[in-house]
Amino acid sequence: MPKISNKGIKMPESPIRKLVPYAEEAHKSGKTVYYLNIGQPDIKTPAVALDAVKTHSLDILAYSRSEGSEAYRVKIANYYKRNEIEVSHNDIIVTTGGSEALLFAFGSIMDEDDEIIIPEPFYANYNGFSTASSVNVVPVISKIENNFALPPIEEFEKLITPKTKAILICNPGNPTGYLYSKAEIKQLAAIVKKHDLFLIADEVYREFVYDGVEHYSILQEPGLEAHAIIIDSVSKRYSMCGARIGYLVSKNKEFIKTALKFAQARLSPPTLAQIASEAALETPQSYFDDVKEEYVKRRNILIEELEKIEGVKVAKPNGAFYCIAELPVKNSDDFAKWLLQSFHYKNNTVMVAPAAGFYSTPGVGLNQIRIAYVLNEDSLRTSVEILKEALKVYKD
Ligand SMILES: Cc1ncc(COP(=O)(O)O)c(C=O)c1O
Repeated sequence: MPKISNKGIKMPESPIRKLVPYAEEAHKSGKTVYYLNIGQPDIKTPAVALDAVKTHSLDILAYSRSEGSEAYRVKIANYYKRNEIEVSHNDIIVTTGGSEALLFAFGSIMDEDDEIIIPEPFYANYNGFSTASSVNVVPVISKIENNFALPPIEEFEKLITPKTKAILICNPGNPTGYLYSKAEIKQLAAIVKKHDLFLIADEVYREFVYDGVEHYSILQEPGLEAHAIIIDSVSKRYSMCGARIGYLVSKNKEFIKTALKFAQARLSPPTLAQIASEAALETPQSYFDDVKEEYVKRRNILIEELEKIEGVKVAKPNGAFYCIAELPVKNSDDFAKWLLQSFHYKNNTVMVAPAAGFYSTPGVGLNQIRIAYVLNEDSLRTSVEILKEALKVYKD
């Protein structure tokens, strides 16, 4: 039997998707499953984007340029300008989702055994992309007690070694919903400049910030041009997860030149999806206002209802559409499986993401889950009720 790679063996399973077979079984057995585990919004994709795909006049579905069509990149640069981020289309590479942007960024700046510092809990696939790129994640732990604020900057500094190449943040954060303040971005900027590191910011949830607080991008920070790399995506912004379009943005020319070689190796991002994504840039502001209002309403309901459950601790998110909840259970992996396999309330159950997979430190987050508030108000209320009933009867 030929052997598969050690890297393949080490590749982590997605904590978000690994319970899918249990959910399918629950569904087959006649239960209704409420999916709180995955960031697939139920929000409608803007009509302009879908119409552009329906009405295009292409007679050959050809490759586009490896860096993405110029017309699209010019419009993306305008989108950033509207968000007070000054970049040109030459600073942008269109990728197959933010996922590919992350892979190209890792490949362009890190070699085998290099280190990347990431505040945890973090988007679980950062573990997967790090393994795929043979680099090591060095976590700096943020705590639910502090609402997952950035740990003191000295904690970062202590972790920097000759192998450290980058700091990666997700702003606003998945899975915590934490929004970094301007002061925190400035602290990070100072440290990456001092130690000559890259600062990667995954800003795919940029529009989803609440309570009147403004998002401050790393590319708004003066003097960070050589260091800053933005990961972006249309997936959540326009509820277009299936389009598979994202982008890499940096004013560091050497970085863009290098990432382009990775882009050339895979030839082209998807052509039809670029047409949809280019049209999505025409989405009226009212769409975002409505979506934001909807998420704020859902967040408030979720947090309020969770806080009523005895033994549950929750950090209030300021952005994105996730929260981490600490439960009175020993192992949320077992609890999440049990919810699907052995429990129902009025023939309903919920699927949640065990949070341990959002940490790279073993044994941390075992009693936490991530909840995505991607369901409507009624479903969300029902889901929390199911969770409450389940916790009454669950035995570790
Ligand atoms: C923080 C974060 N970054 C990147 C991605 C990747 O998104 P996509 O590849 O769909 O653009 C996701 C998806 O959920 C995410 O939550």
